[in-house]
Amino acid sequence: MSDIIGRCYGETSPTKVEFVSKTVPAVNEYVYLEYAGKTVMGIIDNLLRGSFTLSDDLLNEDTIGKIVEIEGQNDQYIRGVVTILGDLEKLEIPRTPAPIGTEIKRATIEQLSTLFSSHEGIRIGTVLSQPEVEVKLDVNKMVSRHLGILAMTGAGKSNATSVIIDELLELGGTILVFDMHSEYGKTVFSNGDKKEIAPKINPRDLNIPEFKKLCNVSDGATNQEKYLRDAYDVARALSKEGKGNNFVEDMISFCLNKANELENAETKNRSHIDAVNQISFKLEDMLRKYGSILDSTNVSDIVDVIEVGKVNIIPLSSLGETATDILVKHVLNEILYRRKNFMTTGKGKTLDFPIFNIIEEAHILASQRRPTRSKEVIGRIAREGRKFGVGLCLVSQSPKSLDSESLSQLNNLIILRLVEPSDQAHVQKSSESLSEDLLKKLPSLNVGEAVILGQMTKVPTMVKIDEFKGRSIGNDLDILGLWQSAKREKEERKKQQKRDLIDMGL
Ligand SMILES: Nc1ncnc2c1ncn2[C@@H]1O[C@H](COP(=O)(O)OP(=O)(O)OP(=O)(O)O)[C@@H](O)[C@H]1O
Ligand SMILES: [Mg+2]
Repeated sequence: MSDIIGRCYGETSPTKVEFVSKTVPAVNEYVYLEYAGKTVMGIIDNLLRGSFTLSDDLLNEDTIGKIVEIEGQNDQYIRGVVTILGDLEKLEIPRTPAPIGTEIKRATIEQLSTLFSSHEGIRIGTVLSQPEVEVKLDVNKMVSRHLGILAMTGAGKSNATSVIIDELLELGGTILVFDMHSEYGKTVFSNGDKKEIAPKINPRDLNIPEFKKLCNVSDGATNQEKYLRDAYDVARALSKEGKGNNFVEDMISFCLNKANELENAETKNRSHIDAVNQISFKLEDMLRKYGSILDSTNVSDIVDVIEVGKVNIIPLSSLGETATDILVKHVLNEILYRRKNFMTTGKGKTLDFPIFNIIEEAHILASQRRPTRSKEVIGRIAREGRKFGVGLCLVSQSPKSLDSESLSQLNNLIILRLVEPSDQAHVQKSSESLSEDLLKKLPSLNVGEAVILGQMTKVPTMVKIDEFKGRSIGNDLDILGLWQSAKREKEERKKQQKRDLIDMGL
């Protein structure tokens, strides 16, 4: 039998209902009302407790104590507000407001299961107010309509990301993680295999526009571009014939020879000599700056070695910000280009499976304020990726610094504890589905608790996200313990040295 929580009173509307109750329900509890031939689901948003006999102007603490002692709890009532989610079948908002006096009943497990876990999908956790009801996310909607995982630091973003990865692996999903802190490499995923891919680009896989950017050759510098292209073509030809040594160094050798040739020509063309010298200098500068990600040995392009049905992880913690930016841009550009080829002409290089790309610390690359190299392609995938099976998951602890264009294309959000008003305002501006009611809940969430919204779930849900067991880092460090054990070790070493000296008779 269902529990009656209270009855509607005052003025009701199709989306909000106020109620009074003698019992004490909880905020965020799911309820239902039956009227106009439908079962209408709702969530308790607000609760107030009052007394029938104690008036507001009674300011004497002793008197209040005595009256409460005599009357007990019977004198008290609860007033609350229910936000209507829609009818159980289609989640449509009813056309008419609930009649005054309609019973508000506690939702049953069956009803909640219909809402949150009846469909195919991956399990993320349980309903916060009803731990016996599991919450599943629609995978197709999540990947093709993109996902944002936002929260302040330490609130549980990486934990939630790990849960999602492991669940996707169970279903045979292909995931690519840009692992900024090299933490996913150390994570154990029990449902599938992991593949680590070195963060290296073979310069032969870069195209001319990429070389131009890395060498800082501006669009108007036609002579420089000409020699860059010539050098590139020569190095490519050598590489194809198996005669190349180091791609960029082959390009530089070409430039040096060319400069020599031009210097020794009968009529010297100063502007051409300068241009070819400039390119040689710029290529050397490129090697100095980005040597950490360029590798001319036989490395394949990262996209060539991504494996289907696995979580592919690129560890990036050893790279600087600019190198990371270049690498992410190259890989995402290549993925989108190949998926487009696969879905349209079938010509050129293709990638024959959809892919879910997870970017941690996304506000650094898709930054609201700073121009970065990868921002453009992240935005493009956010806008067009859906059509080509390229999914995006942006994880950020500083949502206010996240590019608002990309953020607005993330149709699904998992928002854990988020306290800063400027972060909240930025997210709300970019996401229509984040209502005022949901926004108010964000600061009071505990670690691992989240508001989940978007097309991957039938209704916005407050969830306790499962704790992922395979993570070895992410916990706060036991600083005190580490200091104490380091001190103990040092003292132990000193004592040992003394003992050694005594043993040696010194
Ligand atoms: N759903 C959860 N259930 C239980 N504990 C959790 C949950 N989520 C996170 N935690 C705890 O909180 C710690 C921090 O979580 P996590 O590393 O996921 O936070 P984060 O938001 O990614 O932090 P950062 O901003 O530093 O990357 C975890 O190590 C774990 O102990
Ligand atoms: Mg994290």
